Amino acid sequence: METLVAVRNKTISFIYRNLLKRFFFLLNPEKLHDRMVLAGRLLGSNPVGRWLTGLMFNYQNQMLTQNLAGINFKNPIGLAAGFDKEAFLPGILPKVGFGFEEAGSITALAFSGNPGKWLWRLPKEKALRVNYGLKNSGAENIHNRLKGRKFDFVLGVSIAKTNSEQTSHVEAGAEDYFKSYKIFQDVGDYFTVNISCPNTCEPSPIFAQAENLDVLLAKLFSIPKTKPVFVKLSPDLAEDQLNGILALGNKYPVDGFICTNLTKVNRFNHEGKGGFSGKAVEELSNQMIAKVYKYYGGKKIIIGCGGVFSAEDAYKKIKLGASLVQLITGMIFQGPQLISEINQGLVKLLQADGYKNISEAIGQGIK
Ligand SMILES: Cc1cc2nc3c(=O)[nH]c(=O)nc-3n(C[C@H](O)[C@H](O)[C@H](O)COP(=O)(O)O)c2cc1C
Repeated sequence: METLVAVRNKTISFIYRNLLKRFFFLLNPEKLHDRMVLAGRLLGSNPVGRWLTGLMFNYQNQMLTQNLAGINFKNPIGLAAGFDKEAFLPGILPKVGFGFEEAGSITALAFSGNPGKWLWRLPKEKALRVNYGLKNSGAENIHNRLKGRKFDFVLGVSIAKTNSEQTSHVEAGAEDYFKSYKIFQDVGDYFTVNISCPNTCEPSPIFAQAENLDVLLAKLFSIPKTKPVFVKLSPDLAEDQLNGILALGNKYPVDGFICTNLTKVNRFNHEGKGGFSGKAVEELSNQMIAKVYKYYGGKKIIIGCGGVFSAEDAYKKIKLGASLVQLITGMIFQGPQLISEINQGLVKLLQADGYKNISEAIGQGIK
């Protein structure tokens, strides 16, 4: 079975790199993205589409299963926030091989996106430049479509502050997050509080300042907590800023941190607005995973995110302290079989190191 899966993945990878990607990369990236989401939505809406997708991409192995914060994960690879902004894809993503997804980021009010272009491919750099600015149709709309539906899949809901000057003050901003937080109490398995979008109307994310985040977390935890809560960090935080945020992780019942969002650091001289993903963020993300892991001595859950293009990249994050790993850019550059390739590759890496389950490897690369 393992050999069959490996051959299947290699075949799809070959077709993707030599045929499909060449064609896809000629198309406008934003339009292609919308079409991919539409295709995923259609495939996920019927049993034949789901079965066929599973046949092409699925892979399961007991060594990859974990229970974290009361949630059962079939494998540690998740789709990061920003691909499925409207939560259209929980029907199909488990068949693509994902262990979980994070939908959003979702904001209290709808936002049609920043003016101008939103997405650029940087193939040489294995990165994307992104400037959507939290485009989404608003918490109530998205919630209305999802409520009452059951998915056999872990669904995280990423909430952010509406991208508007009206919510640029701390009290109004915290109130804005709180609206989405209340609306989504009965949908999804965990929350992520995204305090790190680099593309909003503020010069820098206001809730990345510890004193402001303190106000926000006090507001969110003023009502009984119903599910795990993660905070998503920017890779560009200064040391003291990061320490201020992590101290709040001890004051409030935050379950863990996502390391990291897009970086503003433009190491490619690629002029224009937006944040960078992929290999532009990988090293920063890895450094932050290690810092957060050391800070809490492994007591908080870390989701590693940024520049994962292979099983080795994912394993590096796990060895540095991540329990789970998310990606977007790697899948766009390598193809959708990447998820299965990473999961199968992780099993081999775990076996080579003598581990029986992925949980045994977490943080083992930290001295
Ligand atoms: C097109 C795109 C849109 C994104 N939108 C969001 C978002 O709405 N919320 C968020 O928390 N992160 C967003 N991100 C950041 C990703 O979740 C992730 O943190 C980052 O891309 C690094 O992972 P990667 O290198 O695997 O892409 C976005 C990334 C991309 C590529």
